Amino acid sequence: MRMYDIILKKRQGFELTTEEINFFVRGYTAGEIPDYQAAALLMAIFFRGLNSRETADLTLAMASSGERVDLSGIPGCKVDKHSTGGVGDKTTLVLAPLVAAAGVSVAKMSGRGLGHTGGTVDKLGSIPGFKVNLTPDDFIRQVREVGVAVVAQTGNLVPADKKLYALRDVTATVDSIPLIASSVMSKKIAAGADAIVLDVKAGSGAFMRSVDEASTLARAMVAIGRQAGKKTVAVISDMDQPLGFAVGNALEVREAIETLSGQGPSDLRELCLVLGGHMLVLAGAATDVEEGMNRLAGLLERGRALDKFREMVKAQGGDPRVADEPDLLPEASYKEQVKAQEDRYVAAIHAERIGRVAMLLGAGRKTREDTIDPAVGVVLHKKVGDRVKVGDVLATLHVNNPDNLATARQLIAGAFTFSSSAPGVKKLIHGVVG
Ligand code: URA
Repeated sequence: MRMYDIILKKRQGFELTTEEINFFVRGYTAGEIPDYQAAALLMAIFFRGLNSRETADLTLAMASSGERVDLSGIPGCKVDKHSTGGVGDKTTLVLAPLVAAAGVSVAKMSGRGLGHTGGTVDKLGSIPGFKVNLTPDDFIRQVREVGVAVVAQTGNLVPADKKLYALRDVTATVDSIPLIASSVMSKKIAAGADAIVLDVKAGSGAFMRSVDEASTLARAMVAIGRQAGKKTVAVISDMDQPLGFAVGNALEVREAIETLSGQGPSDLRELCLVLGGHMLVLAGAATDVEEGMNRLAGLLERGRALDKFREMVKAQGGDPRVADEPDLLPEASYKEQVKAQEDRYVAAIHAERIGRVAMLLGAGRKTREDTIDPAVGVVLHKKVGDRVKVGDVLATLHVNNPDNLATARQLIAGAFTFSSSAPGVKKLIHGVVG
């Protein structure tokens, strides 16, 4: 078999066989196929696409390219959750302890942030002492004892995706539905859960800008999950404005703690209840989503979810007092308010721009090697639909290093769009696939 023939076949729009896909993934991971041939195939796939059988084959070949996590030592159905990435998306911080408080084990591997979207591991890393790198044995032991652990993805999980994602990033081939679907699902399958709830984001802060594109991606991922024998459901949720108010690592932990305490922003709370309701149904812990949501809402109200968060933080070496005293989290030295210049309604808040402001202030990475500042970011004071008067605070910038402040100010001013009449109510959940 020759890589040249595989590239040509896909370039001409033909279907690749399972053997050809396996040959490519094995050869590229082993360093036997050079980047230039892999890049050519990725571009051919970008234009010609993959059918559902080819996408499933690519996913399974990638999932088998490295270690797989064995969760069989944890009793019961293990349900994973994955977001395709957004701005201010701190749902895992709330969902993992919340679902565990309902008695469903959560063994979650999460990623670091790159670009304008944040990563759960960086957010948890802002809690003093919190360890995100547990050995596999400690990870399993903690889930057995506490019911929940959230850790960084281990080094050798899906090495094919690490190489291919880095190549896609520099060859303009990231935003291809079969490539995104196989990248995400290969990691979920290798991470060992029995069932998966996907949060597929649509809007200005997401990979998929429209609900239609997000639905196509959701259907592709649900089909892969099913073929891999995992119960899979996808919720399509809005990312046309940041989720909640806080964007930035410690700032998001603070907002997650508020939500775990039964308060917090209504969009974040609702999304966590919907995703959590589906997780409970897949785990067999609720008969329908509504029943699951009601149970979870009760756990938030009664403080059980916050208790579980405290336990998880303690088990992972963090300071559990943050659950009750969020002021123990790192705080920026300087805060600057951004104020409204006119009496209008907020018509839109461009999520990606807010994410870029937070990144410029130091909350995110431009390259994998960058270090982040856990304290900095943006807190919104208004959301889409709110009425504002001249001088009202729209957002607060939390700053330590003023180097990029001028650019951040400019970007944030352009992130808000105003209208003279109230905009229509924005939907948070656009649909469910599965
Ligand atoms: N997230 C992933 O893990 N992979 C992609 O290709 C895109 C988003």
